[in-house]
Amino acid sequence: MLKLPLLQVDDSHVEACKSFYTLNDTSLEGKVCQGLACFVARHLKPEVWQQACGQDGKLYCLGKCYDGPAKASDTSRPIMEVHSREPVVMERIMAGGARELATYRKFGGYKALEMVRSKPAEETLALIEASNLRGRGGAGFPAGRKWRAVYQQPAGQKYVVSNADEGDPAAFIDRFIIEDDPHCLIEAMAIAGHVVGATKGYIYLRREYPAAIEILGKALAEARAAGVLGGFELLMFEGHGSYVCGEETALLNSIEGRRAEVRARPPYPTESGLWGRPTLVNNVETFANIPWIIRRGAEAYKQLGFSKSQGTKVLSLNSLFKRPGLYEVEFGMSMRDIVEKIGGGLKSGTLKGLIIGGPLAGVLPPTLLDTKFGFEELRAVGAMVGHGGILAFDQNTSIRQLIHHIAEFAAKESCGKCTPCRRGGERIAQMFGNGDASKLEFNEINAALLSTSLCGLGTGLAEFTITALRHYGEELSSCIK
Ligand SMILES: Cc1cc2nc3c(=O)[nH]c(=O)nc-3n(C[C@H](O)[C@H](O)[C@H](O)COP(=O)(O)O)c2cc1C
Ligand code: SF4
Repeated sequence: MLKLPLLQVDDSHVEACKSFYTLNDTSLEGKVCQGLACFVARHLKPEVWQQACGQDGKLYCLGKCYDGPAKASDTSRPIMEVHSREPVVMERIMAGGARELATYRKFGGYKALEMVRSKPAEETLALIEASNLRGRGGAGFPAGRKWRAVYQQPAGQKYVVSNADEGDPAAFIDRFIIEDDPHCLIEAMAIAGHVVGATKGYIYLRREYPAAIEILGKALAEARAAGVLGGFELLMFEGHGSYVCGEETALLNSIEGRRAEVRARPPYPTESGLWGRPTLVNNVETFANIPWIIRRGAEAYKQLGFSKSQGTKVLSLNSLFKRPGLYEVEFGMSMRDIVEKIGGGLKSGTLKGLIIGGPLAGVLPPTLLDTKFGFEELRAVGAMVGHGGILAFDQNTSIRQLIHHIAEFAAKESCGKCTPCRRGGERIAQMFGNGDASKLEFNEINAALLSTSLCGLGTGLAEFTITALRHYGEELSSCIK
């Protein structure tokens, strides 16, 4: 396994884990993405997709879904806009980025860290709780509650971990936060360390984002040299091509050099995380909200958004939209406005459906476009906010092909710990690949996935296939009996 020079971990188990990862020492040079966002866009650049089909091994998501099917060598940037009353996350990204410490400071960077250091941790915890910031990595768990759970653990070695593994096809949010605003993540993690009592942190990055790794490495070196981190030690860890490593406990096992299988919970990482110590794991975008909340206060934050979904969310729209790109919006917009006003509708053809927040989540058909973008609102119709990638698909993709692609993805990325997930994804892919599925078997696999999966990869596959059958049953009637 390759290591970054900044890495300081015990790697004595690493050789034994190589079979878990798809990239290991493989170069990205000449590679094409085979992720879902590129699959549904294959008609836009058939020659690129042909190359992807003939490629050895699997490469799922380069974070260039705004230009899919995408090559590793593509250097274009997405459209970037702010559609909220004010930006929380994208201010510096919109201004051309703040990669250097001096530029970040011009925007008030590292002031929030100073503010936090000058008051009791309890005050900052109360502020984060009052803001109702919810995790942007998938589950929408209240950030303040998680911070407090780590804070309340007895003093001793604790860790802060940033989940920068962003493996969901159609998501390229964390990629641009890191590439354009790396100090914001560094500042937020130092704040978290100070508040929860952790002296050490890790940022788990994906190997598919080489520019992000390089830029963050430079920013971290600059922050260290300037002494802004104080006694907080922050290290980077590079993943090696495994979607399930985005799941927080698999990620922790990966950092520890173990096979990246998901851990059973409880205990939760807040109590027993890295090397059995209390660990705060948050997504990059969750962290990116923190300095703003500290500088501006919880009330200002709660002015943005609606219902139980406060603040803004950065959305990433895939290449089927007329205006694929990165957009900061307030929660509460209708999905129709996101598709039509922000995305400008589709480049060609008609919208057949949306997959929001990753491939392992419910599908939203056009009949449900009036649903508002919010955690509870999307849940109520079987979909989810997830990480905020908005993937549109059109008539060029049949539902059978979509199920086949997603089930194959889930089968390849399953950590293998739960039998229904290890075998079920493969079986669903087989049934829909052949166009000859048994309804009884399909229902039994889904029921087993929902009731026995240790993580959202297995349950998400079932949620996706169940909603696909619910909304597109007529189209599937010829291949499921
Ligand atoms: C299969 C799977 C993949 C995941 N991938 C990611 C990911 O790439 N990035 C991320 O932040 N969270 C991911 N998550 C969610 C994490 O397990 C965890 O909930 C999150 O990092 C917590 O941070 P938050 O509370 O700030 O959202 C994934 C979950 C599952 C089940
Ligand atoms: S549901 Fe799948 S990926 Fe998740 S723990 Fe079980 S086998 Fe691993």
